[in-house]
Amino acid sequence: MMFDIEAVAASFSGRLMLWLDSTDSTMLDAARLAEGGVPSGSLIGAEEQTAGQGRHGHSWHSPTGTGLYFSQVLRLNLPAHETPIVTMALGVAVAEAITQATGLAVDLRWPNDIMLNGRKAVGILVQQHNGALITGIGINVNQESFPPDIGEIATSLRIANGGRPVPREALLLQLLPAIDRMLEVLTGQGKDAILRLFSQASSYVSGRRVVVEQGDRQLRGTTDGMDENGFLMLREDNGTRTRILAGGVRPE
Ligand code: BTN
Repeated sequence: MMFDIEAVAASFSGRLMLWLDSTDSTMLDAARLAEGGVPSGSLIGAEEQTAGQGRHGHSWHSPTGTGLYFSQVLRLNLPAHETPIVTMALGVAVAEAITQATGLAVDLRWPNDIMLNGRKAVGILVQQHNGALITGIGINVNQESFPPDIGEIATSLRIANGGRPVPREALLLQLLPAIDRMLEVLTGQGKDAILRLFSQASSYVSGRRVVVEQGDRQLRGTTDGMDENGFLMLREDNGTRTRILAGGVRPE
């Protein structure tokens, strides 16, 4: 099936939208666009990435024509310490768009993975670059299988949809305005509004038994909300309330 990006671009008026057949990583493309001074919201996507980047130096599996892989340049005028909240705002937007486009129930795993039936279907990355933010969203849409190293932990919308393909254009048409809306909530109402929406959409934020990998240590306990900066609070089994600064949270 051809990907009809023109239909999506028509709804994205006034901003740059580029869609490539193949690239190394849209993060690198968007960083170059940011250096060229493109306006906030400009977008670059690709049908395939040959060196898709994940968090913590991982790669992002980006086979051709099956997923959505794109980056945006954002100029939001937010303090640098609020960058993680941008990631959460994007997570809320993606979760909302997936549910609207497919009816599938999704969960947000703190801080920024989107889960379907306990497996990861979406990854989100936000980097600071020359005073701008470069975002990256990778959605496993129509993959029917995954390489062995992620076969047990990854899923796609199609797999969760009983094998029925999901049109990528329809999803992107829901997603782009949802992203704009969530970023407006963040810049207009502030980070508390995003933290509230994230908490409502995530089963991980409160009352969930989890194991947290912290380097060579493992913490066990029950999640107990987020602090004002979006860090997860863990009530450890020994009674200590610990702030979790980075991911590695999984159900017990
Ligand atoms: C994660 O590890 O969870 C984040 C994955 C982010 C993947 C997306 S795909 C589009 C953009 N380009 C990249 O190279 N990475 C991000």
